[in-house]
Amino acid sequence: MNKRKLVAGNWKMNGRREWVDSLVRGVRQALTEQPYDVDVAFCPPFPYLFDVGAALSGTALKLGAQDCSERTDGAFTGDISATMLRDMACDYVIIGHSERREFHGETNQLIASKMVAAHKAGLTVIVCVGEKDAKMDATTRNAIVKEQIRQSLCDSADAQNTIIAYEPVWAIGSGLTPTNDDIVTMHGLIAGFLPLSVKGARILYGGSVKADNAATILQLPGVDGALVGGASLKKDDFIKIIAGAG
Ligand code: PGA
Repeated sequence: MNKRKLVAGNWKMNGRREWVDSLVRGVRQALTEQPYDVDVAFCPPFPYLFDVGAALSGTALKLGAQDCSERTDGAFTGDISATMLRDMACDYVIIGHSERREFHGETNQLIASKMVAAHKAGLTVIVCVGEKDAKMDATTRNAIVKEQIRQSLCDSADAQNTIIAYEPVWAIGSGLTPTNDDIVTMHGLIAGFLPLSVKGARILYGGSVKADNAATILQLPGVDGALVGGASLKKDDFIKIIAGAG
């Protein structure tokens, strides 16, 4: 089972072509000079997959996308299939991010269908779960996350092709994070709750992971990496986060 930590940068709807030089090649160069025993993935918007993929080619750095269709190829204007992502040399796809759930009405059922499509195409899925409200009591919070996992995981999920990202929605982009104890507790709960076929899958933390808190969060027991939004857009910050996982 691969328990090497994974640091994945989710650019969201940010970026320009020039970032391939300023950010991607910069990180690549820094990691060549100072390598870390960490898996690293870039998840840029669809239009930049080709350029980012080209910049990563020949390295161990991986490419990921931020979403995929639940359908295979066909008359689905505007959609992107998992097969296309694989064709573009993606290894990972993020599905069920809270911004997809909120702004595109994605349900756990749809996310499970996307997971089937992604696995069929040979992609490793990073599936996001997390409660919305910081003030939620632990019992409610735990029940919500368990239910998201129960409904979002499809039968083809196993510990290699599926990664869980615990991302409390209130922590995303807010500068707030749960306490270390709360992170450890939730990761333990998720690990214990995973069905047998998925047991041992990596569990990432996401939500305001920054250069200055990454080393602490990434060394907590049960934290197998990070899904990083805002701080993945800054070369030096992203490198520090990767270093924190190493
Ligand atoms: P953030 O986003 O690091 O900007 O909080 C994390 C995410 O949404 O994956």
